This record gives sequence, structure tokens and C-alpha cells, in this order.
Amino acid sequence: MSAGTATAVAHPNIALVKYWGKRDEDLVLPVTGSLSLTLDTGATRTTVDLDPAAAQDTVELDGATSTGVPHERVATFLDLVRERAGRTERARVTTVNTVPTGAGLASSASGFAALALAAAGAYGLELDERDLSRLARRGSGSASRSVFGGLAVWHAGHDDASSFAEPVATDLGLGMVVVVLTGEQKAVSSRVAMRRTVDTSPFYPAWARQNPQDLADALAAVRAGDLARLGEITENNALRMHATMLGAVPPVVYWSAGTLTVLHLVQALRRDGLEAWATMDAGPNVKVLCSLRHRAALAQALADQVDGARLLVAGAGPAARLETP
Ligand code: DP6
Repeated sequence: MSAGTATAVAHPNIALVKYWGKRDEDLVLPVTGSLSLTLDTGATRTTVDLDPAAAQDTVELDGATSTGVPHERVATFLDLVRERAGRTERARVTTVNTVPTGAGLASSASGFAALALAAAGAYGLELDERDLSRLARRGSGSASRSVFGGLAVWHAGHDDASSFAEPVATDLGLGMVVVVLTGEQKAVSSRVAMRRTVDTSPFYPAWARQNPQDLADALAAVRAGDLARLGEITENNALRMHATMLGAVPPVVYWSAGTLTVLHLVQALRRDGLEAWATMDAGPNVKVLCSLRHRAALAQALADQVDGARLLVAGAGPAARLETP
């Protein structure tokens, strides 16, 4: 029997080779594989408390009760866990994020990784890391990667069993500086934007053809210890993903003026010798992959030259973990 309550902590991850597009929305099977870095900042802490007397799940996110789609996503996810565990009790889910929710900072990745681990603990499901990654994937694709620390590759797979993430060993000494231009909720969710891109962008098929090559090249660069090559692929891959969105109908433009300012600045800093490469997700904020040895200089340059930005200075973070009561 389970303890009926469990708390888990997971960290966000930023994709270096992106996941963009599903081939099965129910199972959250991606069109292509992806590669990410789990960060050591911006953790999500989630408690799942079974409540046998309750008729419904309740979800509290950062002190506010969730309703509508966010509540539905959590309740649907818990249904999946209950079905596997052969249990029926509803639960109280309490989540605290330490980065702004909905701002392209991957809070759904850390959120569903933490929820998967806490829910499995509370409902007494014994899962190995691979199964936990598969379960987290059902909540949000990118969450499959936040189960692991450091670099993680998510294999696209062809069915539920073969689509999971696993860690990728590296001694590259990777850092990341997140330039938070806005903490506002984005107008179009990544889920909606992704679907629209797949359905309407004439550039999407080219992306789907190219991305496996980008992933293979990125993994080869990691194995070879070639940070410059990994960085080039990272920046290029992000720009290609955004190019598919610009071609969607109606177009999805996540960038703000500040996004371009930071992108150009990173390119200029690189010409000056800094090991730094930009990547952007479903929002205007820019994440800058860098070497640990250049991280302080990069953060200083960004602080000096980007008005009003908040910086999160990160390194490789840990795997998701259960907190012992
Ligand atoms: C741009 O994992 O949030 O951050 O599976 O629909 O929940 P769903 O999507 P989500 O998409 C992440 C998209 C991305 C790229 C990435 O993290 O690989």
C-alpha cells in the first residue's frame, strides 16, 4: 500500500534540439526526437495527497486554485495514474513553481515530471526511470526529459513503450543564462502552436526531415566533446523551429523586439570570443547556452547591455526526486 501522500521536486529543461509536433496527440508521441539540458534553477515542487472523501481532484498552482484547461490536464493525468494503479481516490495536488508559469520557461516540463513522480508515489505505482519518463510524457512531452538531470535525449519512438528519455553523459561543462524579458502568460500555448504548425505550415515537413539529422549531429558533438559544434546546432535548430511557426496560418510569432536584441547581442559576443549560443522556445525569453568558464562574463555582458531583463544563471541540474517526509 502507498503512503497516500508524496512530494517530488523536478527542474525545468531547455531543449538544444527541439521537440515540435506530435504524431499522436493522445499518447504524446513526437514527430522527432529531441535533446535537452536540465537546469539547476527554477524547480517545481509538487505534493499529491490522496483524499478518499473527495469527489473531485483539486489543483493548486502557486497558491491559486486551478480551473479550466490547467485543472483538466492534471485531472486527466491523474486518471491515467489511477487506472494503472487500480485506484479510485481523488487527490489534492499542490504545486509551487520558482519560475514564472507560462513564459516559455518550461514549467510544464518540471511540472509534469514532478507530478508524475509524486502521483506514482502517492498511488503506490512502482516505476523505473524509463517508465517514469514515459508517464511524464503523457502530461507534457518535454516532461519526459525532466525526469533526468544534465543532458537527456528523448527518443521519438513509434509507440508508448518506445518513446522515452534517457540521460546522455557529458563532461562538456555546460551552463545556461536565461534572459527573462517577460514573465507574462503567453498568448498561444505551445500545445496549440505546435498543432497549428504541423497542420498548416509548409515548412513543417522540412523540419521533420532535418531534425533527426540535427539530433544525430548534436549527439555526435557531445560525444566528441565539441562544444562549439553543439552550440551551432542549438542556435540553428531553434531558428529553424521558429521558422516553421512563422509559416503557420495564422502565424505564431513568439519573439518580441527584446528577443532579437538578445539574439544579435549573443552573436556579437560570440564573434568577440565568448562561447555562447541562443535558443528560444514558446515565448520571447532567450536562453543562452554557454561554457561554464564563460558564464560569468556572458551574464555580465547581458546584464550591462539588455535593459530591464532578469537573468537566471544556471548549470546542469539534477534528476527529479522524491522528498522523504
Ligand atoms: C518549444 O512539452 O510544452 O519547448 O507536449 O504539448 O505539453 P506538450 O508540449 P511541450 O512543448 C515544448 C516545446 C518546446 C521545445 C522543447 O522543449 O523541446
